[in-house]
Amino acid sequence: MRTKQTITEAEGKLGVLIPGIGAVSTTLMAGVFAARKGLGKPIGSISQMGKIRLGKRTENRNPMVKDFVPLASLDDIVFGGWDIYTDNTYDAAMHAGVLDKNLLYTIKDEMSAIKPMRAVFDTEYVKNINGENVKKEKTKMDSAKALMADIKRFKSENNCSRLVMVWCASTEIYVEENETHLSIKNFEKALEENHPSIAPSMIYAYAAIKSGVPFTNGAPNLTVDTPALIELANKLNVPIAGKDFKTGQTLMKTILGPGLKTRLLGIDGWFSTNILGNRDGEVLDDAGAFKTKEVSKLSVLDSILEPDKYPDLYKEMYHKVRINYYPPKGDDKESWDNIDIFGWLGYKMQIKVNFLCKDSILAAPVVLDLALFMDLAQRANMKGIQEWLSFYFKSPQTKEGLEPMHDIFLQKIKFENTLRYLKGENLITHLGLDYYEEN
Ligand SMILES: NC(=O)c1ccc[n+]([C@@H]2O[C@H](COP(=O)([O-])OP(=O)(O)OC[C@H]3O[C@@H](n4cnc5c(N)ncnc54)[C@H](O)[C@@H]3O)[C@@H](O)[C@H]2O)c1
Repeated sequence: MRTKQTITEAEGKLGVLIPGIGAVSTTLMAGVFAARKGLGKPIGSISQMGKIRLGKRTENRNPMVKDFVPLASLDDIVFGGWDIYTDNTYDAAMHAGVLDKNLLYTIKDEMSAIKPMRAVFDTEYVKNINGENVKKEKTKMDSAKALMADIKRFKSENNCSRLVMVWCASTEIYVEENETHLSIKNFEKALEENHPSIAPSMIYAYAAIKSGVPFTNGAPNLTVDTPALIELANKLNVPIAGKDFKTGQTLMKTILGPGLKTRLLGIDGWFSTNILGNRDGEVLDDAGAFKTKEVSKLSVLDSILEPDKYPDLYKEMYHKVRINYYPPKGDDKESWDNIDIFGWLGYKMQIKVNFLCKDSILAAPVVLDLALFMDLAQRANMKGIQEWLSFYFKSPQTKEGLEPMHDIFLQKIKFENTLRYLKGENLITHLGLDYYEEN
């Protein structure tokens, strides 16, 4: 047995604060309310349905994850959030069109009660949409202070003992890290001076960390993945994680990629295209936002396939990702992957994947798990980047100089071993030779 880490119990209410009351966040909230009433199961959520093996295979110890580590229960979650539109979460869910109207009607009271707070928004960062429910503070620092006031008020009005924040708002345009992001001193000066390189998502992240609230980024924006905000999170003992929820086509890529690599099958090309018609698709129709998403989606294969180590197999691979806005699809995204592979003596083969997926249905359990595990991280005194949660992201945030791990199966092992470590259980290496040793 290892030394057990101290984790405080999940007592009282957990406030889950969400910038972006759109398809993903309303699907999450509706799912939690429906599950509480027994109207549906939280499928896809490790925190709700997952089990974890402990000890040797012969011990048969496989508790539920939620019984193994102390997690907030669904009954103790209170939701809040911000959006540029005034729609309450019932109307926003109706607009998103992901869930059945009859189901939404049964949870109308809970959903209608959640009204978005005024957002910090900048049309320079998100094109193609605009709304009225926006803060009008003079400087970016004033906006951050206004968000901190929202957070404080929400906590006391809802009698929460803890809070977490998960960014579920639109994808912002691509920004390169520059000197304003390099230290918290520079960052705060830039906030005061209204510097254009401080994105709204960074202002939310700053406000969360300053308020001691763990922050998770579900979109591919830079946001909390900067030296300045990492410095602040470490200084104030706040967990942070990102970026870009791993769902849909990239989920498939991180399932298939490691499989092909494990058998050392070569890849000539991987062409991925998508059509989607929701508001996310509308925002991604802008070249700046698409660039942010493209960078996040493209990074995945390289780290799985390691072309530098396996030049014969992957060095020449052509990888292309396209996203096309196509309104008739709504939230029902359709993706096609054409994978040109080669095997023994270079003989060519093809794999075609046509995934008719529901993005928000895949994303909702990811948001729920991230909220609950980030809260756990804080109660376990874990601060800064939570790389053990890479499992949930397309572009996992890691310490500078450390290559992210994209292989979903390695990510799962890392995740489970972290939980075992926290509870003082032996880590599992899957070596298993001891089962065969003679006594
Ligand atoms: N659905 C998935 O599987 C998936 C996967 C990975 C990442 N994401 C990301 O999650 C985010 C949410 O996706 P979605 O489908 O719910 O999108 P959506 O367009 O339905 O919802 C986003 C909401 O954010 C609001 N918004 C934009 N800027 C804001 C700001 N500064 N403050 C507050 N609200 C703001 C918009 O008005 C909109 O209502 C997107 O960035 C998307 O790229 C989604």
